Amino acid sequence: MTDAGASPSVRRLSAWDAAELQTLVDDYGSPLYVLDLERVRQNYRRLAAAFPEADILYAVKANALGAVLSALREEGAGLECASAGEVQRALAAGASGSEVHYTAVNPPARDLDWIVDTWADHPELTVTAGSEDTIDRLADRGYDGRLCLRVNPGIGAGHHEKVQTGAAAKFGVPAERAVDVLEDAADRGFDVVGIHSHVGSGVSNDQLDAHREFVARMGDLAREVSEEVGDLEFVDVGGGFGVPYHEDEAPLDLESVAEATREALGEVDARLAIEPGRYFVADAGVLLTDVNTVKAARDTTVVGVDAGMTTLIRPAMYDAYHPIRNLTGDLDADEREIVPQTVAGPICESGDVFCADRELPATERGDTLAIGNAGAYGYEMANQYNSRPRPASVVCEDGDIRLARRRETVDYVTRPEREAHNGSETDRKTDDHPAVSDTDNQRVR
Ligand code: LLP
Repeated sequence: MTDAGASPSVRRLSAWDAAELQTLVDDYGSPLYVLDLERVRQNYRRLAAAFPEADILYAVKANALGAVLSALREEGAGLECASAGEVQRALAAGASGSEVHYTAVNPPARDLDWIVDTWADHPELTVTAGSEDTIDRLADRGYDGRLCLRVNPGIGAGHHEKVQTGAAAKFGVPAERAVDVLEDAADRGFDVVGIHSHVGSGVSNDQLDAHREFVARMGDLAREVSEEVGDLEFVDVGGGFGVPYHEDEAPLDLESVAEATREALGEVDARLAIEPGRYFVADAGVLLTDVNTVKAARDTTVVGVDAGMTTLIRPAMYDAYHPIRNLTGDLDADEREIVPQTVAGPICESGDVFCADRELPATERGDTLAIGNAGAYGYEMANQYNSRPRPASVVCEDGDIRLARRRETVDYVTRPEREAHNGSETDRKTDDHPAVSDTDNQRVR
């Protein structure tokens, strides 16, 4: 196993072995998500080395594959879950309640019902509430367990406005009300254990000042809460550590983030908790996709691939840059000419492009392309628009390769509709919380 301290802090798309990736797509078909668990572990160890004093939780939403949850648990991570479904996955991956934080964002009743039921068997579970009425709704269900309060410190950061949370009204109780809300919760018998906030996602080196201000505000609040409400077990400053998507982008200055965080929390008598997602998995994953058409358009060449915005939505949703490499071209003996190309998916929307006019080696029909940094928020945000089944996922570790999730079929996509027509009872409102107890969701490896 690689020594994580020595692992490079960036793994570029060019570092993947083209022949191995080509074999995977030959064996498992296209499009295909590939995840390298060894790299996930390296990323964890590097981050843990920068934050030796912190409790590290993995934000499951970045990549909820059971193999990822198991690997990160083995490394020592807890799991931060955004829904009852994610908590179910965490427990199925072997986590105990004490390793799980459930962050309730406008939680559906069905989620809260399931969480409170589950808490009976896992009393060490932590629930993070972001509004007073979420606390009321927990109390209504008889919950008086471990409670953390998500606050809104009024400062955000992140790679796109859609992922900047620290100042967005949607998230958390305004920090200036935190003491009152926590006093009230403590009076009502909740076990108040922490405060939480998440600045946003994809914080880069040029946003470190905002991140510093964010952790400073959390430090000040933690001191105030400790004095006025009582001791806190932890202060959770969320995730958001960015990774370089552009080929020439420098990695995040982790030491400087860690140093600023330590300074901000200085004398607070509570443990520091962080909950990154992207940092662990982004560069551990690639998306492989076959080229079906190559068309000379008026001003560019359009390369039509079989993955689309339904497979990887980040370029369409956030104008996110992902590196693209032609594996077949790299394996060819002949040098290919570099020409501007637009790589587009099969979805009937003009936004369904992975890049526009990018200088790439000339593509031919039948080539396989690799799209880099696809391990975070790739499969997790995939959907079935245009009745497109979601792709398969394989994981590799120590030379071992296995299918982690099979490719969906059109039959799978249309099944809920056929079952509704068959008069199935499962979608009627019952007490069984069908959305989280469906057995489809229980297979995690
Ligand atoms: N904690 C909380 C409460 C969060 O909401 C998130 C991400 C994280 C931790 C982990 O953030 P990370 O370390 O992964 O940046 N789909 C977007 C990212 C959305 C992030 C949502 N929350 C993307 O593809 O860029």
